[in-house]
Amino acid sequence: MAKDTSGLNQNNDILTGLPKRVSPGENKKRFSAQVDAGHAHIEGDMELGKKCVTALRSNGDFQRATQGFHSYPARLHPDAARLLLNALPGDALADPFCGGGTLLVEALIAGRKVYGSDLNPIATLVSTARTALLSPEQLDELQRLVEGIADEAEKNIADKKPVHLHDAILKYKSWYKPNCFEELTHLFGAIRASESELKPLLQAIFSSLVVKYSLRASDTSNKVVFIPRKNGAVLKAFRDKSREYLQQLTELQTLVPPGTQPAQISLADARHPGFDRVDTIITSPPYPGTYDYLLLQQLRQAWFNLDMRSNQEIGSRRSFKQARAAYETWLKDTDSWVKACAKALLPNGHIAIVVGEGMHAGKLLRVANPTIHAAQKAGLEFITSAAVERKDPATKMKKIEYILVFKKK
Ligand SMILES: C[S@@+](CC[C@H](N)C(=O)[O-])C[C@H]1O[C@@H](n2cnc3c(N)ncnc32)[C@H](O)[C@@H]1O
Repeated sequence: MAKDTSGLNQNNDILTGLPKRVSPGENKKRFSAQVDAGHAHIEGDMELGKKCVTALRSNGDFQRATQGFHSYPARLHPDAARLLLNALPGDALADPFCGGGTLLVEALIAGRKVYGSDLNPIATLVSTARTALLSPEQLDELQRLVEGIADEAEKNIADKKPVHLHDAILKYKSWYKPNCFEELTHLFGAIRASESELKPLLQAIFSSLVVKYSLRASDTSNKVVFIPRKNGAVLKAFRDKSREYLQQLTELQTLVPPGTQPAQISLADARHPGFDRVDTIITSPPYPGTYDYLLLQQLRQAWFNLDMRSNQEIGSRRSFKQARAAYETWLKDTDSWVKACAKALLPNGHIAIVVGEGMHAGKLLRVANPTIHAAQKAGLEFITSAAVERKDPATKMKKIEYILVFKKK
């Protein structure tokens, strides 16, 4: 079996109950994506365009407050989010494709009123966990809860106590080594029984381990990896991850200006966003034919027994494989969500869209002109377009990524 060295593996077919077998010892490493920043091009407002180019070229370490907590595919770089927030000052900010909540965290740190929504329940879970503003008492309670859950799981494993599991996750049991599955199961059972209002944060900590301690190579690859895992490894990871998350939450609390309201996060289709009357929208919609954001979460979907509205996902890779008219559908969907967002913007408000070309059947799927047309049809004024060329490490093809900024008249 070939190694996935890109981190951008596109083998996102539905996970079956049984992983493909490969020899133990293969694919030991998990890899991360790397892209080279190439040429840049600006149209419209030069000053703003230059800031957008700098944002598009952001790279490096992801550690700031909760930004490093929990993986999420195709997340924005926190520095790009911060640069765009500084370039487009205002009071209330929304991200209707909030994913793992990168923008929401930076917007809280900037003291903005924050709205985030996404179609994917794992995105809203991760965003909720990343933006949680906890008092010192709540931080102490979270610490007590995680210790109690880890202790209970450990004791129940030692006592060989059974945990009732729903069918959805049993179907994916073979994606785990038996010892990892047992430990995850007992943690899951203890969290499920919690009645604390902080339960979503416990679920998010659990969720951060679900792929890492499976046989799956990464969130974006279905390749199988065999990494030796000692008994107790998952319980230890839960304790370590919780400790790290508590530190990140404490840091977030110190960075967010006093009086900033908690982020309002909802499960919503961007064509019917769950916010209104905002002065700034900064968002990154799915690049056409690039990922299956909802399908990629199959293991988490199974653990949490979630109902995923995959047929409403915009631009999914699967839709490009299945339907000839997928690009036309993406164009209509773009018209539709841009129109809905234009309606939610206050007069003189700005929208910045971070979007990149996709690829299907060896052809580039253009995104800039259709997005500009959609914005103009929705009555928005074009302000700037910044474009940076990147080499896709998987295909070696050059693709362009854009930040397009518009203003409501
Ligand atoms: C490029 S990602 C956003 C990443 C995010 N900026 C971050 O930093 O994590 C695109 C997001 O669009 C979401 N999505 C796809 N179709 C959607 C729809 N119809 N309505 C709302 N969100 C959708 C996916 O679940 C995914 O989280």
